[in-house]
Amino acid sequence: MTSLWLADRTNQPPPPRTLDAGDRRADVVVVGAGITGLITAVLLARGGKDVLVVEAAYVGAGATGNTTAKISVLQGSRMSKILAKHGPRRARQYVEGNLEGLEWLVRHCAAHGLSVQREDAYTFAQSLQGVPAARTEYLAAKIAGLDVEWVDDAEGGVPFPFHGAVRLADQAQFDPMPLLDSLVVELEERGGRLVQGLRVHKVSGRGDGLTLHARSGAGDEFDLRADRCVLATGIPILDRGGFFARLEPNRSYCLAYEVPGEITRGMYISTDSPTRSLRYAPTGAGDLLIVGGAGHPVGHEKNPASSVAELDEWARRHFPGAQQRYFWSAQDYSPIDDLPYVGPILPGNESIFVAIGFDKWGMTNGAAAALALSSRILGGRTDWAEAFASWSPHEVSGIPKAMMLNLQVGMYLARGWLTPVTRTGDRSPDDGCGVVSGPPWHLQARSRVDGVEHRVSPVCPHLGGIVNWNDADQAWECPLHGSRFAPDGALLEGPATRGLTAS
Ligand SMILES: Cc1cc2nc3c(=O)[nH]c(=O)nc-3n(C[C@H](O)[C@H](O)[C@H](O)COP(=O)(O)OP(=O)(O)OC[C@H]3O[C@@H](n4cnc5c(N)ncnc54)[C@H](O)[C@@H]3O)c2cc1C
Ligand code: FES
Repeated sequence: MTSLWLADRTNQPPPPRTLDAGDRRADVVVVGAGITGLITAVLLARGGKDVLVVEAAYVGAGATGNTTAKISVLQGSRMSKILAKHGPRRARQYVEGNLEGLEWLVRHCAAHGLSVQREDAYTFAQSLQGVPAARTEYLAAKIAGLDVEWVDDAEGGVPFPFHGAVRLADQAQFDPMPLLDSLVVELEERGGRLVQGLRVHKVSGRGDGLTLHARSGAGDEFDLRADRCVLATGIPILDRGGFFARLEPNRSYCLAYEVPGEITRGMYISTDSPTRSLRYAPTGAGDLLIVGGAGHPVGHEKNPASSVAELDEWARRHFPGAQQRYFWSAQDYSPIDDLPYVGPILPGNESIFVAIGFDKWGMTNGAAAALALSSRILGGRTDWAEAFASWSPHEVSGIPKAMMLNLQVGMYLARGWLTPVTRTGDRSPDDGCGVVSGPPWHLQARSRVDGVEHRVSPVCPHLGGIVNWNDADQAWECPLHGSRFAPDGALLEGPATRGLTAS
């Protein structure tokens, strides 16, 4: 389950360095060392701020180290959705922000000698049913100011079903880890610090300063002080602001293959289901093909492994002789009103900031969020940032979806607590399986992985959801807001900040 980008790296966080009193105070603490957190940290350090980055696991441990890493402003069908809900002005601001993000990344990579491949991006129809959505995206992208064209055929041809596409020339793709490494080097050169293996679980104070309460893997507690903090953690770890109710966590899967012969150039994503996302990736041993898809809201899919098997079968059918080399998964968050939330955690709060809702397009959006946040903290302003506001009237357009999402959350909460009553047997789960059983007053989550059985409480420490088993990832997932846990209950990702307790 290691991504192509994280393979061959040690990935073990160094033991948290002893944080002496000087180390525990900074102008700004950035929580999370993915693309958003590290670019924000570097921009703030460039602006003269003393910055401390705190990372729960290791650099790139979240979505950034497990992404497909297309740097594209043509983003599937996103522009049609934004245009329909928010109109041309906001759509153009969103594009402007993403273009700045793309340019920043490309410039930074060029300045640091990092490899980037400039490629065309395609949003394509894989069946006739997908053509209207692709056509709509073409029109929306044009209105939003993108220099797109409609193509009936992909340049050079593609070996999979293709019924026309929107093409945006000269986008980019890369390996995200060298970028993150270069950001850490620059941060430290500018006097900033990075601490890995330290999880922030609470932030208190305001006005005269913040205290961030953090815990190391070994259970040691640290209090960090800062004037401001940026939560670049994916879904915010603090409940104030209620972002967990405005975001849908979606998990998807990537497979990387060795393929005989030339691999299709360009970056592709389908408008019609099931989603097919493709790109190639240069490696020391030649190019690999990356295929992504099989997505689902976290904790809602009964057998993700069967969707992954279907995706794998699709790839092998259209790329004969493909040999799978890597398999990984990750999740990102879809905002209810289709625009990201970047800014204060609560209206008027200029101490705690969030950056979330990139809907699987966080390379350009993460960079744009970092530009907007750092500029705000340093006293500047970016006009396009309105389209990224964490609090603004545009949320009204998301209310119906929010109501539906939260109705669904309520349903999963009730179902999670009640359904296991019917599964009270004491049979041990098969290998690779997990089951929640027992009466509501004594629920147990039991799983067996590599012959080892684990029993934990299935009650999510965030807000009490009952976890479900993901047979593709071999992990517990909370269907309410997307927290994930290892078979032994250890926390994998939030908004929860603690693991499942022993049963
Ligand atoms: C399968 C998949 C494919 C994708 N493909 C693309 C693509 O091709 N192009 C594109 O533009 N986008 C893509 N995305 C989206 C993109 O990867 C993400 O939007 C982006 O990486 C998010 O970056 P981030 O820095 O905001 O968050 P993350 O990379 O998730 O970083 C958050 C960090 O915070 C840390 N953290 C969390 N909680 C705490 C805590 N309490 N204390 C301390 N640290 C904490 C985590 O360990 C993590 O390292 C894809 C997403 C997925 C899931
Ligand atoms: S993630 Fe919110 S209840 Fe589990």
